[in-house]
Amino acid sequence: HARGSYGDGNLTNLEEVAAGIQVCRRCDLWHDATQGVPGLGPARAALMIVGEQPGDQEDLQGVPFVGPAGQLLDRAMAEAGAPRDRVFVTNAVKHFKHEPRGKRRLHKTPDRGEVQACRWWLDAERRLVRPKVILALGATAVQAVFGKALPIGKTRGQRQTLEGGELALVSWHPSFMLRIPDRDAKDRAYAELVADLKQAWKLAD
Ligand code: URA
Repeated sequence: HARGSYGDGNLTNLEEVAAGIQVCRRCDLWHDATQGVPGLGPARAALMIVGEQPGDQEDLQGVPFVGPAGQLLDRAMAEAGAPRDRVFVTNAVKHFKHEPRGKRRLHKTPDRGEVQACRWWLDAERRLVRPKVILALGATAVQAVFGKALPIGKTRGQRQTLEGGELALVSWHPSFMLRIPDRDAKDRAYAELVADLKQAWKLAD
């Protein structure tokens, strides 16, 4: 892509992006978070997976997808034959949005303004990693990657092309899957995520 076409200034490598995220004040989420969580993976991965935002564990460890949703994603990726260490895994929003509930910190969905503010960082990661394929997991990632909402149930499995030239797919977010009470529906969503990961990895090849 043309340099700076995403409007992300002069960031020239992922270390600068990671450092910038730690001091970011583009929205207020930094205030209650332990740290910002940048994407993780090879600097030139062919596949980028975008989630929503760090959860409790990610916020504490500074690493994306290491909590319960991350464990589900790991399992699905292994099943799909997509090695996690060859994929760049990141989030639409880099700080954990939450509210206290007793001793626990309850996840809160980031709003449009926060997603928009944090696109600065996602776009920088996209420009630097230059993935061939982007897999957006869940509504927040879809909003960040496509700049609009898409019905995941209807669009998953369909390969799309982004303005920057990347191929894109959408799928279910693993956290959503963890909350489906019905066993069959849960299994179906998981199988679809595995299929979508398989397709994304194949397209990236
Ligand atoms: N959920 C996400 O969307 N991202 C993470 O990093 C962890 C949980």
